[in-house]
Amino acid sequence: MPAESLQELLSEELKDLYDAEKQLTKALPKIAKAADSDQIRAAFEEHLEVTKSQVARLEEIFQALGEKPKSRPCKGMKGLLDESQEHLEEYSGARDLIDSVLIDGGKKVEHYEIAGYNSAIELAEALGHKAVSRLLRQTLTEEERMDKKLDQLGGRLLKKMVRQAA
Ligand SMILES: [Fe+2]
Repeated sequence: MPAESLQELLSEELKDLYDAEKQLTKALPKIAKAADSDQIRAAFEEHLEVTKSQVARLEEIFQALGEKPKSRPCKGMKGLLDESQEHLEEYSGARDLIDSVLIDGGKKVEHYEIAGYNSAIELAEALGHKAVSRLLRQTLTEEERMDKKLDQLGGRLLKKMVRQAA
């Protein structure tokens, strides 16, 4: 496959991720506000700040590639956030379940992003863009950290719920 096509594929992936991160910066304040526990609210609030820096990092990446930062509507993220919003409305009266619902939605978002960043890293490495792949890896690590944090919080929450139900 000619290198230009791979380069184009990388650009498209980056535009997709750029839009996805921007959608998230808009959605996360609402998600954080809906949380019942302080810990879960804090996790989403912290991830909002991390996400804002990921948007800036993508701008740096576009610049490193000699491109202008551009978005391409990310339908995958839109779908995940629409679904999350729907669940929020459905469970808004169920304080005991809302945090589990938020964690579930958050994990789906993280896994989607992790897949996108992994693809972008593979392309950047294949094309020899070392600085770009290093920057992308920083974001990947942050997403993996959030995924693990949600796992831990979700696990603790479930144990508590089981204890209370016993
Ligand atoms: Fe992100």
